[in-house]
Amino acid sequence: MTKTAENLTSALSSSTRKYGKALVTSIFVTTKVSKLYGYEHQNFEDGITGFLKVVNFFVRNEGSTTLAVVNEFLVLNETSLKIDLGGYQSYRHVVDILREREVGEVVFHDGVERAELIRFIRLLNQTANEDDPWAGFSQAFQRANLEHVEVSKIEITAESELSVDPDARQAAIHAYYRTMDATSEAQEAFKEGARWNPKRLKRSAQNIVDLVMSEESTILALTSMNHGASPAVNHATNCTILSAALGAKIGLPKRTLGDLAFASLMHDVGKVELPDGPDPKCAHALEGARKLLLSGRVSNSVIRAMNVALLHHRAYGGGGSPSLSVDIDPCLLTGIVSVCNTYDRYVIGTSGGADPLLPAEALSKVIELGGKTLDPLLVRVFVNLMGLFPVGSLVRLDSGELATVTRSNPKSELLHRPYVRVFSSASGENCDLFADLSELTGGEFKRSIVGSFHPEEIELDLGEYLSVI
Ligand SMILES: [Fe+2]
Repeated sequence: MTKTAENLTSALSSSTRKYGKALVTSIFVTTKVSKLYGYEHQNFEDGITGFLKVVNFFVRNEGSTTLAVVNEFLVLNETSLKIDLGGYQSYRHVVDILREREVGEVVFHDGVERAELIRFIRLLNQTANEDDPWAGFSQAFQRANLEHVEVSKIEITAESELSVDPDARQAAIHAYYRTMDATSEAQEAFKEGARWNPKRLKRSAQNIVDLVMSEESTILALTSMNHGASPAVNHATNCTILSAALGAKIGLPKRTLGDLAFASLMHDVGKVELPDGPDPKCAHALEGARKLLLSGRVSNSVIRAMNVALLHHRAYGGGGSPSLSVDIDPCLLTGIVSVCNTYDRYVIGTSGGADPLLPAEALSKVIELGGKTLDPLLVRVFVNLMGLFPVGSLVRLDSGELATVTRSNPKSELLHRPYVRVFSSASGENCDLFADLSELTGGEFKRSIVGSFHPEEIELDLGEYLSVI
């Protein structure tokens, strides 16, 4: 592509994103306002005017407006819409409302009228059919007779690449250890009351972001290891990786990802000087925010980190610890860190003093908490990212082979059939083979997982584990 063509493509994508945000907001406002005040209310009328304007903008420029749900994300005329911090609530609402009805794509064609958009919003406001959401929605859609609107059922596409680049894998392993060193050093400095170097930590956080974007599977696999300089350092590092991966998955811009990774690295900094053991009043959250405030120059990223440190145990939708005199809802970055913190605490086994859980078991605990204490959309994206057998899990196959999970299957109905790296044959010999567990042979799945286990159960030491992820 020439430079001019590249510039033009990028300018078009950014205007699509800008108008895309307006489109998402229109759907959010019109569905919400009509439910609250009815279809005659002025705010509903204004919302529909904005909706029609933005649809017509795309129809004029690109011939039609196609809004698609791909996994948990919105794609408008082939440009993926990014979630920004202010627009998160409306983005989440539109993904939810379409997914609940199993609508994968909505196309608005040239000639679409105001009355059609009103009828479309009315359809979205009808309760989804629990037994067969798509059948319920598409029948109502046919009856509504929307001449210039088309809808189709959700479909999730699969990736095909299986293998891992060995150099990138090595770089990911080094970055993991460098981050642990930097975290360890900062925690020691905090303990001794010495000055700490936020720049070094921010660099480590940024490194993790870069690796998550280029070598996601290895870096995610490292989070399932249960070792490190100390459990606190291990936990901070794992949370940083998981948060950066989850943030990248929902499309946060790189700069915000850097702030997210830094905030995640520091989320439990308030624990450094507190005695070990349960902290029912969440004193570490207040202490962490205080430490960050007193850490020197309070930049935007430090303010975001303070927010996360203070609120990462607060529940989605309000409540939780610490109790505050004003009710503050956790922001998107805090919601992400809360999901990753919960998951990792189950994996490392410090949640309520319990034994470490297998990654798959920890994930089912997180799923149970979705919509209760954790944001359900973020939990869904997290499950999509990790798969039901999270990346890094050691699994036994019905073929008798042993394998590590390298990547989740992007089809939600195949989350229990990830991509794996087989490292031990049925006869117990070393091997190295990448496989897709959704692969069929003669109408049957070629390989299936029969169980997962801790590395110690097969006497796999750290070095051996690192060579098979
Ligand atoms: Fe905490």
